[in-house]
Amino acid sequence: MGKKENNLMEKIVSLCKRRGFIFSGSEIYGGLAGTYDWGHFGVALKNNIKQLWWKKFVDNRRDMYGIDSAILMRQEVWQNAGHLVNFADPMVECEKCKEKFRTDQLGHPMSKRTSDVPECPNCGGKLGEAKRFNMMFQTKVGASEDSSAISYLRPETAQGMFVNFKNTVDAFHPKLPFGMAQIGKAFRNEITPRDFLFRVREFEQMEIEYFVRKEDWEKYFEYWKGEMLDWMEEIGINMNKVHEIEIGDDERAHYSKRTIDFEFEFPFGQKELFGLAYRTDFDLKNHKLDYIDEEKGDKIIPHVVEPTFGIGRAVFALLLSAYSEDQKGGETRAYLKFKPNIAPVICAVSPLLKNKPELVEYANVKVFAPLKAEFGRVIWDDNGNIGKRYRRQDEIGTPFCIVIDFDTLTDNTVTVRDRDTGNQERIKVENLKNYIKEKI
Ligand code: GAP
Repeated sequence: MGKKENNLMEKIVSLCKRRGFIFSGSEIYGGLAGTYDWGHFGVALKNNIKQLWWKKFVDNRRDMYGIDSAILMRQEVWQNAGHLVNFADPMVECEKCKEKFRTDQLGHPMSKRTSDVPECPNCGGKLGEAKRFNMMFQTKVGASEDSSAISYLRPETAQGMFVNFKNTVDAFHPKLPFGMAQIGKAFRNEITPRDFLFRVREFEQMEIEYFVRKEDWEKYFEYWKGEMLDWMEEIGINMNKVHEIEIGDDERAHYSKRTIDFEFEFPFGQKELFGLAYRTDFDLKNHKLDYIDEEKGDKIIPHVVEPTFGIGRAVFALLLSAYSEDQKGGETRAYLKFKPNIAPVICAVSPLLKNKPELVEYANVKVFAPLKAEFGRVIWDDNGNIGKRYRRQDEIGTPFCIVIDFDTLTDNTVTVRDRDTGNQERIKVENLKNYIKEKI
């Protein structure tokens, strides 16, 4: 990673902590690698992403069925889905410092022996033999020590949809093609969690399993590619940094016959943001599930096209797309140029001076309360001087700052400041709701 990119990463990580978006997991005990805790604005950002996704892919469609399945499932699910054997990364351990690495990250295929791989990037020591490391977190359900009690934290939300395929068909009688959609946590015991939100051990996915007739898969693969790109654009990901990469035969997941990764130019390189896979009938067949087409009178195993989105990576790409700097009043200002539809806060309301009860009262009753009731994502900010408040809201990515000053008390107008231009307009209080509605 170059100095400039490194610098950008540092700026974003530090902004996220300072402004209450994202914190390291278990921080007061030194942190737990690959885990992050989400602060107030981070949760708001994630919720907006999830809502826009659900609206586009579930609520606005007639062929999509939502589900929220249990994270813990019987071990047979993972046996039959092939994950017990295949959900593994090649790994080497340094014989000296015991640091572990994914062999692919060292640029060497699984089969290479110790002597072929370079020395340990950490200490220069000798690397041991490559092994396969299963990334599923194992746990036990109940008090029994028996192996039948073994379960796993799901490494993908997808299986929760496949195992509910029959329930969904029986409850809703959908006709092909139709899809199931789920948003939820997934866990992977990554060998080397790194690069902030990019590779973590606990994360959230938004996934769709779209069931089609075998002969239609290519058509729907193309269709979902377009839908995924539209959604990325809609939430404000910088599309100049998104690249479509065809994944080769030896790199695809065990269940996929075709995969496209949408890669994003992260500061540490161009890496997978989201994915689109043709899972064939692999999963339904292995779970011994099928579908009766009542109109055509045949029994088939539908094939699956799967668009998958990691929420952490979406947030990361959005932060990188939105992060901007310019010069204001002789100082460098940092701001997040979020689209209003995903901004954690739509507007901040400020009385010019917090020790003037008449300003505070007006701001609270006539501006803050009605805007809060209308938009929800509205905050009160009376901390520090106005300049400091603007800087803070810029860093949170708040599109509008509304200030109540002494003129307000006589003419019922307020100042509305635009985050990106810094321009200010006087707007009548009675027109504020409509003004903001139009802008967003
Ligand atoms: N059901 C298919 C599936 O899970 P995947 O490519 O392994 O496919 C899907 O994961 C998405 O989940 C990725 O495109 C990425 O956005 C996200 N993801 C995967 N592993 C991740 C990790 N360790 N940390 C953060 N996000 C991850």
